[in-house]
Amino acid sequence: MARRNKIYEGKAKILYEGPEPGTIVQYFKDDATAFNAVKKDVIEGKGVLNNRLSEFFMTGLNGIGVPTHFLKRLNMREQLVRACEIVPLEVIVRNYAAGSMSKRLGIEEGTMLPRPIVEYCYKDDALGDPLVSEEHIAAFGWASQQEMEDILSLALRVNDYMSGLMYGVGIRLVDFKIEIGRVFDGDFQRLIVADEISPDSCRLWDIESGKKMDKDVFRHDLGDLADAYTEVATRLGVMPKNGNLGDKPTLVN
Ligand code: TMP
Ligand code: ASP
Repeated sequence: MARRNKIYEGKAKILYEGPEPGTIVQYFKDDATAFNAVKKDVIEGKGVLNNRLSEFFMTGLNGIGVPTHFLKRLNMREQLVRACEIVPLEVIVRNYAAGSMSKRLGIEEGTMLPRPIVEYCYKDDALGDPLVSEEHIAAFGWASQQEMEDILSLALRVNDYMSGLMYGVGIRLVDFKIEIGRVFDGDFQRLIVADEISPDSCRLWDIESGKKMDKDVFRHDLGDLADAYTEVATRLGVMPKNGNLGDKPTLVN
């Protein structure tokens, strides 16, 4: 099989040119990084789990009319997605205080917030993805005013969908990060949810015990990351009880 052209390699994924114009193959690696890649490891099976989980969340979002880049899963580690121009922002939605917000504002982890709070970070690894305000975003032209309204609406719809889905399987969606892409439909430009939605980019706590089931397990050495993600996948019915995620790969070139 002819090897595809690599477009970009990030910390957890590789993007290849897709089989048709306007498509991209997104490959999920087993690499885990934290604190801007200061901490690194390879977690066997993480890529397979995140490929499946991101497929599951994005398919559900597409199904309720929240547009995403997801087209179809190709095999255990790869999915076909729509090519888009990534808005250089990490869009974070928080339902409970945790992580950098708890540190920054001195709010105890797990405190319920009065309403979902949306934050924006400028996507720049060299700068450590700094928190920015809408003033910065407008002044530096990272997104237009109309786009910011659409991004806020997308982020809150993703929050409602994901919170409900997780609540149904006894998991609290504490916070999450999404990325947004611009696509062109004819002359029309619109925004879609891009990148991935997985336990790498969410905080997920067991409602009963408070146990962490997301990348904080790796960040803070709390246990086996693949086991935590497997439990999320099993509860959601993404992974059959026999623990077998395997199926025959479909190859694309
Ligand atoms: P934070 O509390 O560290 O700012 O993280 C907020 C949310 O964003 C949390 O669910 C983890 C996610 N996140 C990413 O997906 N990528 C990142 O690089 C960081 C720092 C956080
Ligand atoms: N995504 C960042 C990294 O890969 C930080 C994090 O998720 O903690 O280093």
